[in-house]
This record gives sequence, structure tokens and C-alpha cells, in this order.
Amino acid sequence: MLALLVAACQPADQQPGSDPVGLGPDPHSFSNHDQVAVSHLALDLEVDFGRQTLHGNVTLELDRKGDVNHNRLVLDSRDLEIHDINQVGADGTLTPLSWRLAGADPEQAYLGSALVIALKSATDRVRIDYTTSPEAFGLQWLDAAQTTTGRPFLFSQSQPIFARTWVPLQDSPAVRYTFEASIGVPAKLMAVMGAAGNPESIRADGRYNFTMPQPIPSYLMAIAVGELAFKSTGPRSGVYAEPALLDAAVDEFSQLEAMIDAGEALYGNYRWDRYDLLILPPSFPFGGMENPRLSFITPTVIAGDKSLTALIAHELAHSWSGNLVTNAAWRDLWLNEGFTTYFESRITEVLYGERRRLMEATLDYQGLVAELEELDDAEQILARDLAGQDPEQAFNGLPYDKGRLFLDWLEARFGRERFDAFLNRYFDDFAFNSITTEDFLAYLQRNLLESNAGVVSMDQVRAWIFEPGLPEFAVIPESDAFERVNDWRQRWLAGEVELEALPAGKWTVSEWRRFLLGLGDQLDLDDMTALDQAFGLTASGNVEILYLWLVRSIETRYTPGIERLERFLLEVGRNKFVRPLYQELANREWGLKWAREVYQRARPGYHPLTRQAAERALGLN
Ligand code: BES
Ligand code: ZN
Repeated sequence: MLALLVAACQPADQQPGSDPVGLGPDPHSFSNHDQVAVSHLALDLEVDFGRQTLHGNVTLELDRKGDVNHNRLVLDSRDLEIHDINQVGADGTLTPLSWRLAGADPEQAYLGSALVIALKSATDRVRIDYTTSPEAFGLQWLDAAQTTTGRPFLFSQSQPIFARTWVPLQDSPAVRYTFEASIGVPAKLMAVMGAAGNPESIRADGRYNFTMPQPIPSYLMAIAVGELAFKSTGPRSGVYAEPALLDAAVDEFSQLEAMIDAGEALYGNYRWDRYDLLILPPSFPFGGMENPRLSFITPTVIAGDKSLTALIAHELAHSWSGNLVTNAAWRDLWLNEGFTTYFESRITEVLYGERRRLMEATLDYQGLVAELEELDDAEQILARDLAGQDPEQAFNGLPYDKGRLFLDWLEARFGRERFDAFLNRYFDDFAFNSITTEDFLAYLQRNLLESNAGVVSMDQVRAWIFEPGLPEFAVIPESDAFERVNDWRQRWLAGEVELEALPAGKWTVSEWRRFLLGLGDQLDLDDMTALDQAFGLTASGNVEILYLWLVRSIETRYTPGIERLERFLLEVGRNKFVRPLYQELANREWGLKWAREVYQRARPGYHPLTRQAAERALGLN
């Protein structure tokens, strides 16, 4: 149990108590949702770019579980300034409640502080007046000089446990609630949310209202504010972006509606009405984030040729795996990300064919094999115990790629028809629920293993979920196209063919990635120059190709590549690229010195998460 200090205590008839606050049923939340759960919340917030704060209030509706006498509500909060907490009566009257903010545990600062509120017997609505901190981890504030429009921009990133840095709430994926929101923003700006009610144009009065009628977990709470424009891509889809990027984004994602149709054909109705994309500034720390109805997307996937749209398929797939059926705790993350990676590859196959699916699967598998070498046994387990650890630790390739191989294996054993029917029922039976790994296993046993006796055993299934490494019966993806790429690479390295002879003009991005991956630590400066002259890699507009080329440039200290790298690090904050690039640099004496200098200039434009990752890589914290 954590020993927590009492920071504030207010006298009143019902006391919040001064005893230490332990964690609730979820090891990453103080929330006592097994006693009193939030079922609806109403946000009323003003966005202040000058102070870099959100301020206003949230009203929480409560659902008492079993014993109606539970007399305290425990919420999560981190870096929030709490001003006032009141009970809201049926007629709207406010009555003060007593509350306290427990001190944070320095060993687990990422959890923030428990906010303990003493409830009266009649309390079923609680209003909290608060202000966020400019340092809030879940928000990035960009000033006017950091955007293409010359106007400021704000966006949230709540997964896994950052919602508590911008709303006091029960920040566990086991808790689901509906919400409504009223957001005030400065003139000429638009607010959008992962919710219904997103506007198609900027409102003169700066007031935007939203509702979320389907119950969601807190990590899917999302807001963005900026000078945004909207363009439709179909009857239930469209794109939001800063005006300068909008047309390119709409072209790149012109198949959005077809992707939704493909998703529905595979796993049943799309349950969220609309599906829009929000293209963020390049500092967005992820590739994509599956905020409901409005996925948040990095602009770095706009390659001009739709070659990186698997990322959209991935975020869309979360509308089933993750947003509809949700991991109950971060230990169960593979239920979200493994299912989604599998589902993403099925959508990719429908849109782009089996060949592309296999190449992408093979690259993912090769990435997993490399990653397994770096992870200790405990980290290689799908249902990995994360108690006492920052849940961010869980977000490596393992839940994605090992989870997906497990589902590939089930599909191979049962056949697509039976497996797809099973998944359809699974999404239906658990729709709008949060489930654990054990819930899934029991369901699998009853609905697939028992009805098809003798195909796979529960012991085999348990090996996938609870053992490190990959079972020897795993189905390994292979791509013929990659065999040919490997041949060409070998022959060029052996001096048997000239670069001009390579069929690279016809290569897809996956083939390029395969080619460049296999060149690790094998090149000298003359090779780099020759490759660049033949294929213009320093000038590549494809971020996946460019990234691998930049890694090769660090290895060889290739000047044009290093110059490109500097511009890249100053512009892009996507962690998947930025973290390993700083890491590669930090492994070299010249690189560390150079990278620390570049980082100081890049830092103001980075998201708090990117700063944290870069500072770790560069030994700055
Ligand atoms: N849910 C994740 C984003 C995320 C990752 C949030 C880690 C918090 C912590 C999202 O669905 C995702 O997986 N994005 C990937 C892209 C995908 C194609 C693998 C990303 O951002 O790279
Ligand atoms: Zn995902």
C-alpha cells in the first residue's frame, strides 16, 4: 500500500478522512469505482492560450454500487489546481462538500494524487471547479509561431493515464461514462472533440458544444483547438486539418469511407455514427490515436501516394477493438493493440491486397524478433503484470505484434470463416464493456475452443498469453517479395550488380524498408553517396524510408543525411522516430554532443512525452 501525505483538509460535517489513500481496483488509478462510479460527466471549460490553461468545471454524475452508504468518491488528478467542490442538487443548488487532495508518491509520480471527496447521503452529482497546469502531461500547447496558420494550437493525449492531468475523474479504462461538453475558445479558432457535435466551420462566438452518447473510458477523452478547416470524404467521414494541409490530407485519405465499409463487413456495424480524422501539427507524439469518432493523426503519414494508410486502418480498427471492447486495465493492453494490429492487416488486405498485407506482417514480425532480444522474460508476456510500474512501459511492440501473431495463429487453426464469426460475436457480446484477459479467455473457451474440440488446447492458448517468447507452433509470416529484395541487396553488397540494375523504381515502401533494414552497419560513405545519387533518399518524402535512411546516416556520419536529420528533429515530434534517432546519436561521442545541442533548440516544439523520451535517451534527466 502507498503511504500518502495529507496535503489539504477542510472541516465539514462529512469528513473525507485523513487516512492514507490506497490504489483502487486498477493498479494505475486511485478511483474507488467498485463503490461509487462516475456514469456521466459534463465539462464546462475555457481555453486560455495566454496562460496555457483550461479552467472551468466538471460535473460528475454518480452511480453507487450495492451499498448506497458509500460515503466517499475517490478521483484521480495530476497537476490540477482544485478551487471548489460542491454537491449539485436536483434544482441546481450548490452545497459545499469537504475534500482533500492526497500528496503524490514520489516513487510513482505518474499516478498523480487522489482527490477524496466526502459524499452526503443524497449526493448524486458533484461539481469540481479547477484549472489545469501549463505543464499538464496530457496537453500540448503550441504558440502561434509553431503552427502553419500563425495561430496557436492545443491538443490532448490522454492514453494511458493522462486524462487526469486535464480533468479530475476516475482514470481507469474499467470505468465508462457518457459526457457532454461546452468549450469556449478565443476568436478565429475551432474546438473539436472525440465526440458528436464537431463543427464544419469556425464559430464567431467561440463556443462549441459536444455530446458523447456512447459510454467511453477516460483514456479516450480528447480535445483539440486551432485554426482548423473541414472537408468531407463521404457520408459519414471527413478530415479536419490546418487549411494549408487539408487538400493533401483529403487526397491521401480519400479511401476513408471504403475503410469503414471494409471494417463493417469484417466485424459488424460501426457503432459511433461518424468517423473523422484530425491531422495534427508534426509535434504530435504518436502516429495515431484512436479517439472515438475523431482519430488524431500525425501529418507525417501524408506521403502523397497512400503508402502509409495502414495507420488509418489501425486507428479505425480501434473503433471495434479498444473503443467498443476495451481493456479493463493496462495489463490487458494486448486486447486493444493485438486485436487492432490483426484487424488493421485484414482491412489492409481488403483495400490493397494480400501481397501488401504479407509484407507489412513480415516487417512487423521482424521488428518483434529484434525487440524480443531486448526484453526480459517478464516483459515478453502478453498479460504482463504492471502493478507498481508506469503503464507507458507496456507500449512497446509486444502487445501489438505478439498479440497479432496469436490471433493469426487462431485464424490459421480455425479457418477464417469460423474465426471471423467468432470475432463478430465477441464484439457484439462485449460491446461498450471493459474486459480483462481472463474474461477473454473464458469467452474463447466457451465460444470457440469447446465448439471446435481438438483444434487447439487451452494450454497452447495460455502459452501465448502467459509465457515469454513465441510458442514454437506460431505461424510466421513470410513474403516472397522480400526474398527478392534480400537477393538484390546481397548482390549489390557483393559487387555483383550496379545500383542502376536494381528494380527499385517498382518497390513499395515495404520493400524499401526491407532493403534499408538489411543494410544496417554495412555501409561506408561511398555507398551512402552512391545510394543517395541513385535514389534521392535524403530527399525522400516518405517518413518510413527517410527514418531508416537517417539511421544509416548516423551510422556512417553521412553529412547530407545529418543535415536532413537536424531539420527532421526540429520539425517532427513523433516518438517512434525521434526517440530511436536520439538513442542512435547518444551511442556515439560526436552524436551525443551534437544531439544535445539540437535538442535544446527542438525542445520548445516538443510534446511533454517527446521531451521525456529524448531527455532519457540523451542522459539529460
Ligand atoms: N493507441 C495507440 C497510441 C498510443 C500508443 C497511445 C502508446 C498511448 C501510448 C495507437 O492506436 C497506436 O497504436 N498508434 C501507433 C500506430 C500503429 C499503426 C501501430 C503509433 O502511433 O505509432
Ligand atoms: Zn493502436
